[in-house]
Amino acid sequence: MRILVVNGPNLDRLGRREPERYGREPLEKILARVRTRAGELGVEIEAFQSNEEGTLVSRINSAGDSFDGIVLNPAAYTHTSVALRDAIQAAGIPCVEVHLTNLYAREAFRQTNYTAGACVGVVAGFGAEGYVLALEALAAHVGRSRAATGKKKRGRG
Ligand code: DQA
Repeated sequence: MRILVVNGPNLDRLGRREPERYGREPLEKILARVRTRAGELGVEIEAFQSNEEGTLVSRINSAGDSFDGIVLNPAAYTHTSVALRDAIQAAGIPCVEVHLTNLYAREAFRQTNYTAGACVGVVAGFGAEGYVLALEALAAHVGRSRAATGKKKRGRG
């Protein structure tokens, strides 16, 4: 099973960006946690981060060619981007959205969400641990879909 982990704008600044809100772990450390859990689950991970909407759209909409699913933190584009939502749909593979913070306990504009409706589910409010939870949920979802459709495996597991 191959999973693409995509992070949107300003998440390259994690650890230094509003640490009281987003935590003190840099993105690389969060991804290391995800890779450790992925190894236990027999899942291959590739990670991608961009601050640019079009770059994210291109990476996501073609992900179905080589991945079984996407873990995505669209960051601020969550609240603005029809293009990202369409890219998730165009990918044709399941996507789990993740947010470090609980959007529903924050400003009203963060409760507008364009991307979640194209995803199988959302994990929000559990900090860095949310990425691991999202991976586990996605791997289980892909596993169940495969069992139901008898679809071939990609990668090692
Ligand atoms: C975020 C929440 C977004 O509203 C914000 O723009 C981010 C981070 C989160 O992970 O909590 O950049 O996606």
